[in-house]
Amino acid sequence: MNEQQSESERRRVSGRRREDAALDQATFAEAFVALTDGIVLTDSEGHVASANPAAFGVLGEDALIGQIFEELLLVSGATKTQDTEGHLVRRAWFPREDRMGVLEIVTTPLPGGRALHTVRDVTAQAELLRLKEEFLMEVAHELRTPIAALIASLDLVVEDALTMPRQELSVLAGTLRRSGLRLEHLVENLMDAGSIEAGTFQVRAMPASLRHSLSEALAFVHPMLESKGQELANEMAPDADRVLADERRTTQVFANLISNASKYAPEGTKVTVRAVTAGGFVRITIADEGPGIPLDEQKRLFERFFRSRTVREQAGGLGLGLSICRAIVHAQGGDIVIESTPGRGTSVHFTLPKARHLAEEAQDS
Ligand SMILES: Nc1ncnc2c1ncn2[C@@H]1O[C@H](COP(=O)(O)OP(=O)(O)O)[C@@H](O)[C@H]1O
Ligand SMILES: [Mg+2]
Repeated sequence: MNEQQSESERRRVSGRRREDAALDQATFAEAFVALTDGIVLTDSEGHVASANPAAFGVLGEDALIGQIFEELLLVSGATKTQDTEGHLVRRAWFPREDRMGVLEIVTTPLPGGRALHTVRDVTAQAELLRLKEEFLMEVAHELRTPIAALIASLDLVVEDALTMPRQELSVLAGTLRRSGLRLEHLVENLMDAGSIEAGTFQVRAMPASLRHSLSEALAFVHPMLESKGQELANEMAPDADRVLADERRTTQVFANLISNASKYAPEGTKVTVRAVTAGGFVRITIADEGPGIPLDEQKRLFERFFRSRTVREQAGGLGLGLSICRAIVHAQGGDIVIESTPGRGTSVHFTLPKARHLAEEAQDS
């Protein structure tokens, strides 16, 4: 029964194929013309026998007709990326309107020494791949510093822990903890960037103390400030302490903004943290005495991976901090803006909804 069915099915299909053969040829010709990938057919001598408009588009009509295709590739410095039995994949540079692009050429042998080549512009993919590799290198680079510090301290502990004076041991423990915190901060930023992109980023807002978030953040940023001889001035108004926010996330915002202020400003400068109430919100400011940010770059600061060309060489970073701060602040109903004059420092302002003060809450109950 089953075999009979498949037999009749086969007949039906092959019958249709015969009927539609003429139509198919026309369709194939149309497809050949309409295809967005370039197609080049070469004869047994390697001359270009025919090519579709897409191939002309990328390779140029004059360059193609009657040419030996392999010579063309040789000129563009094609390199082999894959060579399987069925086909050969190569990549080559080619000039695009704006800049150089990357072509992928897949060559499939046909009977009689002829060959079919598909030619595709893969510039965008190549670019993405390059960005990804660059990003991985930067992540590795950023991880290396705290890990090196961690291992150096651990080596000392392993060698001398038993004979070491308590004082020295506690300094070592401090270094170990700081390296650990720095690693944690990095990994958290990476994971948050991922969940923001995936749309699964969450905050849990509840009445919280700004002062508390700030002091948690200081455990992380204080060593950075100290190593650059920078002073932190806390100018938070007493009535601006209670906010409706995720305390851990607010700590993260402080940590990111203060570490930027420390990282990009010179030694011996001052970082100021202010908080004032403004309507139903508390407005927090982190101000530094650093180099400021060029005007044309200011609108891009909250983009993922964006780093100013003026500071990129000078301090490490992944360009994620500000984009994460913005996601956190927005998720809590606040806003974040940057005010910066080149040469005159940078102030980052963010707002969080105000919560009632503990005293007010106590009064009601
Ligand atoms: N306080 C600041 N002073 C000068 N430039 C800053 C400051 N804060 C941020 N920037 C600029 O914004 C860019 C993005 O900051 P961020 O998202 O925190 O990433 P990262 O600090 O890892 O580079 C930084 O690379 C720097 O160019
Ligand atoms: Mg940063």
